[in-house]
Amino acid sequence: MTTPLLNSLLADTRLPRLEVRMLLEHVLGKPRAWLLAHDTDPLDPAVAAAYEALLARRLAGEPMAYLLGHREFMGHRFRVTPDVLIPRPDTEVLVETALECVAGVAGPAVLDLGTGSGAIAISIALARRDARVMASDVSAAALAVAAGNAWDLTASVRFVEGSWYGAVPAGEGFDLIVSNPPYVASDDPHLDQGDLRFEPRGALTDGAGGLEDLGRIVAGAGRHLKPGGSLWLEHGWDQAQAVRGLLAEAGFEEVRSRQDLAGIERISGGRWRSAGR
Ligand SMILES: C[S@@+](CC[C@H](N)C(=O)[O-])C[C@H]1O[C@@H](n2cnc3c(N)ncnc32)[C@H](O)[C@@H]1O
Repeated sequence: MTTPLLNSLLADTRLPRLEVRMLLEHVLGKPRAWLLAHDTDPLDPAVAAAYEALLARRLAGEPMAYLLGHREFMGHRFRVTPDVLIPRPDTEVLVETALECVAGVAGPAVLDLGTGSGAIAISIALARRDARVMASDVSAAALAVAAGNAWDLTASVRFVEGSWYGAVPAGEGFDLIVSNPPYVASDDPHLDQGDLRFEPRGALTDGAGGLEDLGRIVAGAGRHLKPGGSLWLEHGWDQAQAVRGLLAEAGFEEVRSRQDLAGIERISGGRWRSAGR
């Protein structure tokens, strides 16, 4: 077998050129500048075989983030494995809103329910070093990934395992609760398409119509929020009105939604009524 030259692989048209380059940088462990300077070098056969293996997985549809093992979120590099949802740029509006909510609170207590890779909790903890951030997940495998990310990024986050508020130690009161829970309906055909095929089912769908977990989180929040504390939730493109309804019904005030980068109402939240009202 002849050893391929780097530039012959870079000319491969089966994948977008950017993806070919990212996979090659990954298997070589070299940056882009090195690739440009060595494009006529023969490739080590072991490296060529590693590239071919990744190429086959990518051509079968596996997300780039799982092949590379990481994804950027809020300017930080998070390790991701098939045990966790790949953090989405749309979720950054949830983190930005969370930070606005606690901007005037010294040492805020923050809870992230369903933390996955830890993207939300860790981004908040890094932006607010004085915050006491707790993050939960029902998946022990996801929590292991999240804890590794917190360690690598030097974020201080307390991780707890269990289903929604069942994971939260009694007596904890929070200034802010955030969550990006599973909100895809179990019969949504998108679950069997694109990247979603490779992500954990339990991270995507509530196993019902899409509003089950959102409803549980809204219903339990009042028992865990301090008076005047906030709850903000990510939801589907067509769920904003329903989630605002859940929040208002549960007694939240200042209920509103915010749009994501595509102009879609992506998150909704409100403030828990103040003491004495
Ligand atoms: C949509 S993913 C969000 C992951 C991460 N927060 C993010 O935004 O990238 C939903 C997360 O909720 C977790 N989850 C699902 N059911 C749960 C439950 N009953 N209690 C706690 N976490 C749950 C999943 O394991 C998954 O990590």
